[in-house]
Amino acid sequence: MSETPALRYVPALRVEGLTKNFRTTTALDSVYLDIKQGEIVALIGPSGCGKSTFLRCLTWLEHPDDGFIEVAGQPFGRERHGAVVRRQTPRQIDRIRPKIGLVFQQLNLWPHLTALENIVRPQVVVLRRPREEAARRARELLTRLGLGDRADRYPHALSGGQKQRVAIARALAMDPALMLFDEPTSALDPELVGEVLAVLRQLAEAGTTMLVVTHEIGFAANVADRIAFMDKGRIIEEGPARQLLDAPRDPRLRNFLDLVLSHRDAPIASQN
Ligand SMILES: Nc1ncnc2c1ncn2[C@@H]1O[C@H](COP(=O)(O)OP(=O)(O)O)[C@@H](O)[C@H]1O
Ligand SMILES: [Mg+2]
Repeated sequence: MSETPALRYVPALRVEGLTKNFRTTTALDSVYLDIKQGEIVALIGPSGCGKSTFLRCLTWLEHPDDGFIEVAGQPFGRERHGAVVRRQTPRQIDRIRPKIGLVFQQLNLWPHLTALENIVRPQVVVLRRPREEAARRARELLTRLGLGDRADRYPHALSGGQKQRVAIARALAMDPALMLFDEPTSALDPELVGEVLAVLRQLAEAGTTMLVVTHEIGFAANVADRIAFMDKGRIIEEGPARQLLDAPRDPRLRNFLDLVLSHRDAPIASQN
């Protein structure tokens, strides 16, 4: 019997055995993770456990030593042909990379370009979109993220939260299959964290597929469908957000949650 292609389950992201060594450190030790289309996964874990390396390897900004990545069903970085594994060419990698939007923890806008130009330029250069269409899309996204009146400002004239929202708009403008966020609120003053989390919540409601590295356990509890806990380069526990937080099985996860939650004054349920 032949398989009907339409019935094949295609996750937004599939990661198999992703491994990355730095000289003396194993930063990623065979990581497996699937993310469904429209799913929001929060990645948590202690500092230095490999979260940022994982996101960087997913975009091939860092070259993983081993393992496979599929984005919306398409191999990224390495391909299997039977028993033979072939590394994609830099050109192939550059063509697929825009399907994954990455927003870093450090604000990373071009300082010499306005908010609008920051969003227009990659669309024109990378996707070869006509300028007018790119500008339309940029304005639409700025409005959606509450920055309609900030289009012509340069980054230095924007607050940290506004800059981070422009960075999010810039990633979204590429129409990625998947958005990755690396602690998107950790470089912000506390009073600005809320506005960026609100944008993430809004994206979640609009069905954006997201992998979010975060220390905001309240956000993870309330917005993520699933939480994955990483320790020493491995995802050692994952599950529905509430279940994982209410009944952590692995003692390392229990310790981590105790540590993170002891720094807070309010229970998870009341945090938004
Ligand atoms: N470019 C690099 N060179 C050498 N070691 C690195 C490099 N990047 C990360 N590491 C190491 O890899 C491990 C994982 O780091 P990282 O992915 O930044 O962790 P996290 O984001 O969870 O805090 C750490 O031990 C870190 O020191
Ligand atoms: Mg990190």
